[in-house]
Amino acid sequence: MAKDSISKLVIRRLPRYYRFLGDLDAMGITKISSRELSERMGLTASQIRQDLNCFGGFGQQGYGYNILDLRHEIGKILGLNVENKAILIGAGNLGKAIASHLNFEKMGFKLIGIFDNDPQLIDTKIMDIKVSDIKNLEMFCEKHKPDVAVLCIPKSAANLLSEKLISYGISAFWNFSHYDFRLSNQNVIVENVHLGDSLMVLSYNLRERNEKQ
Ligand code: NAI
Repeated sequence: MAKDSISKLVIRRLPRYYRFLGDLDAMGITKISSRELSERMGLTASQIRQDLNCFGGFGQQGYGYNILDLRHEIGKILGLNVENKAILIGAGNLGKAIASHLNFEKMGFKLIGIFDNDPQLIDTKIMDIKVSDIKNLEMFCEKHKPDVAVLCIPKSAANLLSEKLISYGISAFWNFSHYDFRLSNQNVIVENVHLGDSLMVLSYNLRERNEKQ
């Protein structure tokens, strides 16, 4: 199947496969059938086969999946074997938490710079990375050519900064800012994260359950 036609839902499930397979590997398990994997993941075996067949299928009839091989292949599909250079804008509560607690390198990214406009934060360090003055952003981008910006700034600041970042060569955003990108440049990729959306889904499920009781 052409990669372009792979459904976004399948792509969204791949990180979960990757994570589960990592857990199984850590438990010393080396192979698994689609039935066992489905039981562990709460998906149907046919769903798993369908998902993995989108990429050519990795299992062998009667053997199942080799965990390390499958994880490696999924990692390649997710691009985790490539190192994209990332910068983070906004070294406040969220920015600090993301820079300190996420293992960027395991996910195909290297965090090479952190920027803020608060004089109290400039020159402090987060995980050995110095927080730089946002005024130095253009020069930094010229020199280091980051691919991705993680936006942990308020919506109003993202509104003002996003076009600049694109003009500095940033072509992908991991956007926590609640700013809605209106992209004229087809090459720019935005992955929006709204933790509140997930909480609202929890709220919906609670309401559904409580109404049934
Ligand atoms: P914060 O106020 O602790 O940090 C924001 C940082 O951005 C500050 O250090 C500030 O100096 C910096 N900043 C503001 N304008 C800037 C500019 N033009 N250039 C460089 N730095 C600038 O806020 P917090 O809690 O870290 O949240 C950041 C944003 O993320 C907020 O707007 C919040 O609404 C949003 N947020 C989004 C979540 C999500 O799930 N998407 C979850 C939590 C917060």
